[in-house]
Amino acid sequence: MDFDARLANCQSIVDIALRRPRRAAAADCASCAPDCLAVATEYALDGGKRLRPYVVFAVAELLRRDPLDFIEAACSVECIHTSSLILDDLPCMDNSDTRRGKPSLHSEFGEAMAILTAVSLLSRGFEHLAKNAADLGLSSKATGRALKCLAHKVGENGMASGQMAELLSGAPTDLRSMELVNDRKTGLLFVASAEIPAILAGATEADIEAVGRYAHELGQAYQITDDILDLPTKKAASDHPDSGPKHEKRTIATLLGPEKAAQKAHAHIDAALDVIKTYGAPAEALRLLCDYVLGRVK
Ligand code: IPE
Ligand code: IPE
Ligand code: MG
Ligand code: MG
Repeated sequence: MDFDARLANCQSIVDIALRRPRRAAAADCASCAPDCLAVATEYALDGGKRLRPYVVFAVAELLRRDPLDFIEAACSVECIHTSSLILDDLPCMDNSDTRRGKPSLHSEFGEAMAILTAVSLLSRGFEHLAKNAADLGLSSKATGRALKCLAHKVGENGMASGQMAELLSGAPTDLRSMELVNDRKTGLLFVASAEIPAILAGATEADIEAVGRYAHELGQAYQITDDILDLPTKKAASDHPDSGPKHEKRTIATLLGPEKAAQKAHAHIDAALDVIKTYGAPAEALRLLCDYVLGRVK
């Protein structure tokens, strides 16, 4: 199966699973529509590429496990990611009017609703993960490790700290600091998406560490390609409808220019591929994701 077919498959599985609990919630509060949380949540989740769920399923495949055993973990990382995007777009952060090809959540529903939806999705992310661990009958030790992994990658030493570092510095100006920020704000959720299915699957420490290293490199490359697509001179307007926070961002792409930045992304992808080279055919889905990331800026 090629990458597009795999991603489409992942999208449909995850979208069905994400909708499952929401239908009931939306019906419960139909009387307060359109301003209710369930409607805003559905709006926010709609339209994402589901790359982090893809990583969850691809790692399951690497470990020769059935990806369908990890649907809740896939929903978990997608909920957390979506919550981070809602907050990222707020006027006090990137001040972005659009997200996923439509008005950003606060533009459509207001800031208070956006913050509450983000909090709700963040909580829901942990709920999905706890459910996956329970469904698999995991020990409390393994369940705790998976939940701790997610909390660590998202919280004060994780994504939130990366977002904070970018805000406080107005984005750093040197490459090393930018890479550190990118690793935290974007890379660590990819790392969680890789490590969590491995933890849930009872993988060896070596395998957990390997998929984590792969995801660090992938996340770095992904953020660079995203920043290249955000450059005004690239084909951003047509191909990247979410481009364009209202202020200029300093990124690796603006620092190095698109060609050198793309070379950096290549180097990270080479490093990611190197980590998984010994895994053979079961690593195919992770390899295809690497090709996809580089293909975004070809
Ligand atoms: C956007 O992530 C934010 C970054 C970390 C660059 P995606 O490009 O995965 O966004 P969606 O989920 O498809 O909307
Ligand atoms: C988003 O980074 C990272 C998180 C939401 C944690 P960006 O601000 O660079 O991504 P876009 O361009 O808004 O998607
Ligand atoms: Mg941002
Ligand atoms: Mg942004």
